[in-house]
Amino acid sequence: MEQLVPLVNQLQDLVYNTIGYDFLDLPSIVVVGSQSCGKSSVLENIVGREFLPRGTGIVTRRPLVLQLINIRKPEPLPEAGSEEKAAKKIDRAFQHSVKQETPSTTSNVQDYAEFLHLPNVKFTDFQRVREEIMNETLRVAGANKGINKLPINLKIHSTRVLNLTLVDLPGLTKLPIGDQPTDIEAQTRSLIMEYISKPNAIILAVSPANVDIVNSDGLKLARSVDPNGKRTLGILTKLDLMDQGTNAMDILSGRVYPLKLGFIPTVNRSQSDIQTHKSLTDALKAETQYFCSHPAYRSIAHRCGTAYLAKSLNALLVSHIRDRLPDIKARLGALTTQTKQQLQNLGCQDFGDKGQKGLILLQAMTKFASSFIASIDGHSTNVAM
Ligand code: GDP
Ligand code: NA
Ligand code: MG
Repeated sequence: MEQLVPLVNQLQDLVYNTIGYDFLDLPSIVVVGSQSCGKSSVLENIVGREFLPRGTGIVTRRPLVLQLINIRKPEPLPEAGSEEKAAKKIDRAFQHSVKQETPSTTSNVQDYAEFLHLPNVKFTDFQRVREEIMNETLRVAGANKGINKLPINLKIHSTRVLNLTLVDLPGLTKLPIGDQPTDIEAQTRSLIMEYISKPNAIILAVSPANVDIVNSDGLKLARSVDPNGKRTLGILTKLDLMDQGTNAMDILSGRVYPLKLGFIPTVNRSQSDIQTHKSLTDALKAETQYFCSHPAYRSIAHRCGTAYLAKSLNALLVSHIRDRLPDIKARLGALTTQTKQQLQNLGCQDFGDKGQKGLILLQAMTKFASSFIASIDGHSTNVAM
């Protein structure tokens, strides 16, 4: 997500401050698949933080709607009479954000998380976030392995994230286990459908590579709402657990199951990695090592793994934003005209009049939007899949 983060967040702020709501309308990313196929692992890798309960068996039993929120030091508002300066400042900020390849890490603002059900409690220890998710799951969904539709809403405020919504869902279970109700599969299915049927959802259909792909629940679910595979990204997990001498090349090539956005293979932490507290950083290194040294995957290693997955999601978001931009530009333009009209009605034609402040800012923003389109074009060719 790196390169795009400062740009998109800046545009989002500007648009929000002029139009009044989040006009970029970024899609939510919904992770689906069978029980224990690696959904939570993939999600944690995308966020780059360990905060989800994981393990064998049924761990995710309520939807987790995870809102990532970018935090930066707030820019002081321009003072009255400094319109030209303010406009120049926006210009400079834009130039700066275009040059800036990675978001600032010099910021001393600390990452924190908060739950909707616990207003005013800031979590800075992500181990405690995990514990709270487990407690909240138990409180509402009970101890008997049942699922519950009521989502847990979690916000992570960080200097390193793009404003975006990610959704972790319970996996599909075929046979009720323990005290699970007999219709557990139907319950879970309808819950998943609620999230993936939204046209603005990007579906990450997770399938374990050590199970025949034709049995992938993730892909079956995705196909039912996205038959042409336009917004479904296939993710293969557990490549390391495939039988000796077999590999996933036929799936990755698209010959077995065609998806427009293709498949990305990953190797996440195993249960024993988790038990021995292997860090995410070490796991990422091991994953890269795995693909680079594997005889079958070596030649396509640059299109494998978590880092490539993050880059691909970035590219998907870029193309989504690009689709939205003409609309945003038109709105900014209309707003400029409207403001001009209002100012004229008030008799404020004089340039330099205090009333012109808003107009000049709006014009700067319209300019920003067009520069943004140009730079997005540059970015998307860099990260195209
Ligand atoms: P979920 O139920 O789909 O959310 O799956 P989790 O992410 O909780 O993972 C289920 C189990 O599979 C955990 O014990 C993980 O450590 C393990 N796991 C996930 N991905 C991989 C992988 O790529 N390789 C190996 N060896 N284990 C994995
Ligand atoms: Na699956
Ligand atoms: Mg899970």
